[in-house]
Amino acid sequence: MNIVILAAGMGKRMQSALPKVLHPLAGKPLLAHVLDTARSLSPSTLCVIYGHGGEQVPALLAAPDLTFARQEPQLGTGHAVAQAASQLNDAEPTLVLYGDVPLTAAASLQRLIAAAGRDKLAILTVDMDDPTGYGRIVREHGAITRIVEQKDATDAECAITEVNTGILVAPTAPLKRWLATLSNNNAQGEYYLTDIVARAVADRVPVASAQPAAVWETLGVNSKVQLAELERIHQRNLANALLEQGVTLLDPARLDVRGSLACGRDVTIDVGCVFEGEVQIADGARIGAHCVIKNAGIGAGAQILPFCHIEDAAVGAQSVIGPYARLRPGTALAEGVHIGNFVEIKNSQIAAGSKANHLSYIGDATIGARVNIGAGTITCNYDGANKFRTVIEDDAFIGSDSQLVAPVTVGKGATLGAGTTLTKDAPAGALTISRAKQVTLSGWRRPVKLKKQ
Ligand code: UD1
Ligand code: CA
Repeated sequence: MNIVILAAGMGKRMQSALPKVLHPLAGKPLLAHVLDTARSLSPSTLCVIYGHGGEQVPALLAAPDLTFARQEPQLGTGHAVAQAASQLNDAEPTLVLYGDVPLTAAASLQRLIAAAGRDKLAILTVDMDDPTGYGRIVREHGAITRIVEQKDATDAECAITEVNTGILVAPTAPLKRWLATLSNNNAQGEYYLTDIVARAVADRVPVASAQPAAVWETLGVNSKVQLAELERIHQRNLANALLEQGVTLLDPARLDVRGSLACGRDVTIDVGCVFEGEVQIADGARIGAHCVIKNAGIGAGAQILPFCHIEDAAVGAQSVIGPYARLRPGTALAEGVHIGNFVEIKNSQIAAGSKANHLSYIGDATIGARVNIGAGTITCNYDGANKFRTVIEDDAFIGSDSQLVAPVTVGKGATLGAGTTLTKDAPAGALTISRAKQVTLSGWRRPVKLKKQ
């Protein structure tokens, strides 16, 4: 099969410099959703018609299995498909999709393709309570005879509620012939793809139709309002799929998945969480309210307390993170690690059972098992030019408000006294402390307020 995706239109109502088809839905350009669906049908030719917004569309979405044809100026949907004509293989049918209709299910397209067979024209149609703006499907004795655009329609035709979604399958050799005969003698002065229906009827090519499982599959984006509506529909579908798999969502309407979220059994997700990229959550893990988690793995039974930000990180089984923790790229936590409030971790490995419960920065560090990092500990990993590593071995205890000036190593079982600024390695098993001696001055008095003159 050949697939042509129309994506040259201007999208004026988006009020944006970005071409319409590049606006994101669930974190991914609209056109990328359509390309994913198209690819799932294994086409032999996949061609995107672009135009408005110049080279931004091919620049962003170029791929080896994809060709692009520029439509300039944009003279209508029929003119758009004609730009791909030379690339289409006559021996196979051609499916036309829209780059701004992101949620069409592959199953619905498969029904349409089946309805077309090898030599019929098939149109994906839906019944709409309010068909305003759409092309209407005109039938005689049940058979489709033509499509009339709203702007060219009579009052009687406007009353028709079966509309053209724009998505169709046509036998390719006749399609090319029909496209070559289109005229722009209509209300909008455009070359309408929809006029091929009347051509097919004249050529005695049967015209079939198929319907999607849901109307939203065929809704397009022309404005930010419609984009926001489709985003909600899509997110609700994703949430429903998670619920069906047994994930507990405290409110399926307050979850955003922008990528893929794979959950084990008995996972619970509280409200307001955003998942981006590839996220895996293992059995029994619980995600608290208002967490943002991107490209991360959360281990079995782990608890992410509210308001955590986790990116390119791995959280071990039974760990407890947050509230208000930030795990930055390169963080790898083993089992049973506790990371508490206002702790930031970057490019660091922390072994099993270690804890950093309050107000710390841990960057470029390798931390052993059962280590206790006291409140306010800072790894000074950056000297303004280069970054260095801090190593803290198993069972070490880092007193509160310590600074570890990397490169530096704290040996196994070592203790750092509170307030230590560590600039040399701390030996294993010993107490190391760097602290000015405490003095108490006798005879000192608090200043008193001076009398006004
Ligand atoms: C089109 C259909 C209409 C259908 C409606 C469904 C025609 C003449 N009309 O109308 O029957 O009900 O879609 O939404 O086909 N595009 C190009 N180049 C162009 C013009 C459009 O690539 O020169 C692309 C647009 O980017 C968009 C799609 O084609 O993705 C549809 O264009 P649009 O202008 O929205 O078509 P409608 O007038 O809404
Ligand atoms: Ca449209």
